Amino acid sequence: MKRVLFVCLGNICRSPTGEAVLNKMILDHGLAQHLSCESAGTADYHIGEEPDTRTQAHGKKRGYKFETLAQQFNPQIHFEHFDLILCLDQSNYLNIQKLDPAGKHSHKIKLLMEFASQHPAREVPDPYYSGPEVFERVLDYCEDACGGVISWAKKLS
Ligand code: 4NP
Repeated sequence: MKRVLFVCLGNICRSPTGEAVLNKMILDHGLAQHLSCESAGTADYHIGEEPDTRTQAHGKKRGYKFETLAQQFNPQIHFEHFDLILCLDQSNYLNIQKLDPAGKHSHKIKLLMEFASQHPAREVPDPYYSGPEVFERVLDYCEDACGGVISWAKKLS
């Protein structure tokens, strides 16, 4: 079983979208025995909250389910537990790297968009202060990159 953690800032917009998209793909590809995922935020602002209502509304229109509450990334637990830590943007990537100063887990820390094949962008944009088109772009980018994560898991299974 490979375990993937999506990491953004608040864990209420982008990383829960990654989690919801990958969870649906895991079921659609029959990979539940081989791959699982969760999400977390580097900040503590929204711990215990449901995903943003806009994230849920846009995601549900594409058939995704949102079932977890926001948690903060915990270096004591999450570095050991997960095989891949997929950061939604560069700033969160750098913040996760700083929590691993000896580089023991650096091989696990990646940008989610490294797995994308349709969109050249390396970051999933923060939609929090933006309009509906950015929430749609977050979904488009997550669908592209999660397809790459599924291919990675299939090679290993
Ligand atoms: P996320 O979006 O990192 O994709 O969950 C944000 C959520 C909340 C805030 C910023 C970004 N905030 O400033 O509260």
